[in-house]
Amino acid sequence: MSSQGSKRVAIIGGDGIGPEVMESALAVLKAVGAEIEEVPVEIGFGKWKHTGSAMTDKDLELIKDCRCVLFGAITTPPDANYRSVLLRLRKELDLYANIRPFSKRGLDLIIVRENTEGLYSDLEEVGDEEARTIRVITRTGSKRIAEKACELAASRRRLTIVHKANVLRSDRLFLNTCREVAEDRAIPYDDMLVDAAAYYLVVHPEKFDVLVTTNLFGDILSDEAAGVIGSLGLCASANLGERYALFEPIHGSAPDIAGKGLANPIGAIRSAAMMMDWLGEVEVARRIEEAVVRSIDNGTTTHDIGGSCTTLKVTEAIVSHLQSWS
Ligand code: NAI
Ligand code: MG
Repeated sequence: MSSQGSKRVAIIGGDGIGPEVMESALAVLKAVGAEIEEVPVEIGFGKWKHTGSAMTDKDLELIKDCRCVLFGAITTPPDANYRSVLLRLRKELDLYANIRPFSKRGLDLIIVRENTEGLYSDLEEVGDEEARTIRVITRTGSKRIAEKACELAASRRRLTIVHKANVLRSDRLFLNTCREVAEDRAIPYDDMLVDAAAYYLVVHPEKFDVLVTTNLFGDILSDEAAGVIGSLGLCASANLGERYALFEPIHGSAPDIAGKGLANPIGAIRSAAMMMDWLGEVEVARRIEEAVVRSIDNGTTTHDIGGSCTTLKVTEAIVSHLQSWS
């Protein structure tokens, strides 16, 4: 059964603050009149605790019968043999491009992270005395992520290829492939070693525009970029493949604040906006972002960005901005 063209969305709240911020995202989608069919799917640590499996093949089938996924966050089960559900989903749905925009006044950059290979290859040999993880870089994988980054950079200023090719020979393939793609497409580009990029991201973040990098570097640099704009709780992401897409805040399940009404719902709400944009509802996405910015400007904010409002209060403020415009 094909679901191409439909707006069936797999809704995965997950664990910890995942379901809390998902509730906010769904309330905002409702307020904005988004026409989507919600298909709830339970996966994660909670499911592992009561069934012994964090995600079944049946869950995966259900997800694959949807157009895309809206995801909260999941806790990693404390089991040495556990394989990350999110990594499996990214691989099964071939979500090779992780797009992470970071913006606040005077700052607007996008990290494009390769999402299926690199050090997250899942090729590991773990012994008591020695453990190895194989870092996989392919020309095909590097080419397609570079193409995605160039698509974004085409309407912006510049592409920066972030790598560690001075030490890692696998990164020479990544760097050279990205350069070839940028040259073919006449995209202005430069490149930077990842350690220098980590430094410049703190001291001169405004100098960056679109960054393209491998899996682990992208993972780390994006939490750093979140710190630069103020909080992990503000940031959203799109995991894109040719057929499927998964949208999620970049934070995890935050067990330290779960169940307390403290979670910032904005990352999840912005993820829902990115989803609507991908589904072709550009105006809906724009309205959500505008309502988010307005609620921040009004000071209706959670503790992570200096406010004292609950998750619910922030959600209600965003919903009421949206309703007042409709
Ligand atoms: P985390 O991102 O959950 O939390 C890091 C810090 O940021 C915590 O102090 C937390 O309270 C704060 N924070 C995160 N989101 C927030 C929000 N929306 N509002 C306010 N504060 C927020 O990372 P951590 O603690 O390393 O991981 C917790 C669990 O989440 C682990 O089991 C980890 O494996 C999992 N994880 C899951 C991810 C996913 O599902 N995509 C991504 C990253 C981690
Ligand atoms: Mg991460």
